[in-house]
Amino acid sequence: MKVPFNDLSKLHSELKNEFQHTFESIIENSAFVGGKHVGEFESCFAKKLGVKHCIGVSSGTAALFASFKMLGFTFNDEIILPANTFFACAEAISLCGATPIFVDNDEYFNINVNKIEQKIITKTKAILAVHLYGQSANLSALQNLCTTYNLLLIEDCSQSHFSFYNKKILGTLGKAAIFSFYPGKNLGAFGDAGCVVTNDDELAHKLRLFRNHGEYQKSKHQLIGFNCRLDGIQAAILKIKLQYIDIWNEKRRVAAEYYIELLKDCKSIILPKIMPQNTHTFHLFVIKALKRDKLKDFLAENEIGTGIHYPIALPFLSVYSHLGAKEKDYPEAFKNQKMILSLPIYPDISRQQIRYVVDKIIEFYAED
Ligand SMILES: Cc1ncc(COP(=O)(O)O)c(C=O)c1O
Repeated sequence: MKVPFNDLSKLHSELKNEFQHTFESIIENSAFVGGKHVGEFESCFAKKLGVKHCIGVSSGTAALFASFKMLGFTFNDEIILPANTFFACAEAISLCGATPIFVDNDEYFNINVNKIEQKIITKTKAILAVHLYGQSANLSALQNLCTTYNLLLIEDCSQSHFSFYNKKILGTLGKAAIFSFYPGKNLGAFGDAGCVVTNDDELAHKLRLFRNHGEYQKSKHQLIGFNCRLDGIQAAILKIKLQYIDIWNEKRRVAAEYYIELLKDCKSIILPKIMPQNTHTFHLFVIKALKRDKLKDFLAENEIGTGIHYPIALPFLSVYSHLGAKEKDYPEAFKNQKMILSLPIYPDISRQQIRYVVDKIIEFYAED
């Protein structure tokens, strides 16, 4: 049996007619850049989240960069973020000239809120709360820290579309939140896409200018921006797919529960932990495994796709070697990078496929 790491073919084939209908309308109206689909998607997304503004942009990375620029982060500023997350989070900070300040992870794979305070200095401007793998970081602790030290809280919901913290939807609890709609995300486009959401009118206005060269009228430019607009075609696809996201997230949760049930007695792995106040949406199902690399190879030999998110925690990347990170400063992230393994998960993964993955994991450790 084959179990790819991700497989969206069934989900997409069921929506083929809706996609085709939309493609025809885009071709007829030449609505390639901007246009009604972008505006419609932005309204639907903002409404579903319960925020005032959604600004569509060309990727999650662009959403991070645009937000940081328009919030004014610059040289000498420091922004706090988790040690284990996707590179773009730190990259966007560095692109603004600011410095990423990494903090070790907690047992839920998110930022360890108990290790933040010691890193706050006068240059600290913000905390980037990345809700990794599908579950919220400890938002009430992060909100308290931001209030105490007058910092901005920015959420990165790229891996946590429509996840909840204490019954509150992620993306609504800070100054702004960003989303990636990379095809493999829980809500994914047919290419690169992303957005920023915020309740702040001024920030929203600046972001709309920024994504379009700072232009407020044809050939009149108010600020230095960039071209990072959301394509009409991606917005149209996202608008269709948005209608099904709750069903797909629920299917991911059911799949995760089945993995947990079948793997609960396997002593060689540690299952993902869920914070009691969180509703996890399992963008990724990440276990910690003994002999991780050998297990990964064994699963690949048996046609099971897996991933590692991420094999090198950000402080240990060569590009950040000048910051002088030591293993002892990030013990959890350092340990995890050798143990974490993302198992296949997607809305249409079957119980039979999950059983096959689990059987192979158990077979691997039985051979010891
Ligand atoms: C947590 C996180 N932030 C930011 C990004 C960047 O998004 P994009 O790939 O759309 O630029 C990603 C994408 O993988 C991500 O997972």
